Amino acid sequence: MRSRPIGVFDSGLGGLTVLQSMIDLLPGEDLIYLGDTARYPYGERSVEELQRFARAIAASLVDRDVKLLVVACNSATAAALDLLREEFPVPVVGVVGPGLRAAATVSRTGRIVVIGTRVTARSGVYEATAERLGLDLTITTLACPGFVELVEEGRTEGPEALRVVRDRLEPRLSAREDTIVLGCTHFPLLGRTISEVVGRHVALVSSADETAFEVRDLLLRTGWMRDRSEGGGVRILTTGDPVRFRRLGQRFLGVPLPAVARVAFSELGDAPVPRTA
Ligand code: DGL
Repeated sequence: MRSRPIGVFDSGLGGLTVLQSMIDLLPGEDLIYLGDTARYPYGERSVEELQRFARAIAASLVDRDVKLLVVACNSATAAALDLLREEFPVPVVGVVGPGLRAAATVSRTGRIVVIGTRVTARSGVYEATAERLGLDLTITTLACPGFVELVEEGRTEGPEALRVVRDRLEPRLSAREDTIVLGCTHFPLLGRTISEVVGRHVALVSSADETAFEVRDLLLRTGWMRDRSEGGGVRILTTGDPVRFRRLGQRFLGVPLPAVARVAFSELGDAPVPRTA
């Protein structure tokens, strides 16, 4: 079991923030990342669609013999984490629990704001997970349409980004909310602009590092962790255009990416689905 890879998936590029944290923290692991760029964005899709996509992607990663699965996407975690945990024979880690645990540690007032895509905000997953984890938090969840596009287009700073972030956040924050959970894998890249709008006294929590810590704890508990000396590797797959994925991924992370390969929908046992929004 130890020598097997770890499967990570997201709707596209956003989960690369989680992948990068895992590369840093778990240098001995082999990581397979699948970005479902051809069906991105997940944030505007229905729960049923996301469950179908997540099930097919998880099955294809399990076929590649992964020892555990990381759902590096808030929207897919919101829609499908429980289902994947029930249906697949490997542990499944999502990004919601780790983000909340970090927020509970950081927040002094216990009043936090979670910002995410529409599907994440509507799902109530943050409230339900906080309850399940016994975290005493008062949570306000805000959908932030437009933020993902700013990141994808590389417009994370400057007047346009400030305007979009200000319009969405300024009217909704009260003085007692001292922590914002970046409940979307793209939002860490907007961190500077968000801080400028809400003030630096408001802590921003990203689930990328926390998710990597949760994976590390799981590997230590199970005895499945590979040593740095075993020298891990990264394979990146996309349902979209691999050249474009690599180019945008490098811009997104600011570090070089290894070669990216295309995975066919037929391999996923699934089909392309036109965007619903
Ligand atoms: N990865 C998605 C999430 O974390 C954001 C991008 C999308 O909408 O697909 O919710």
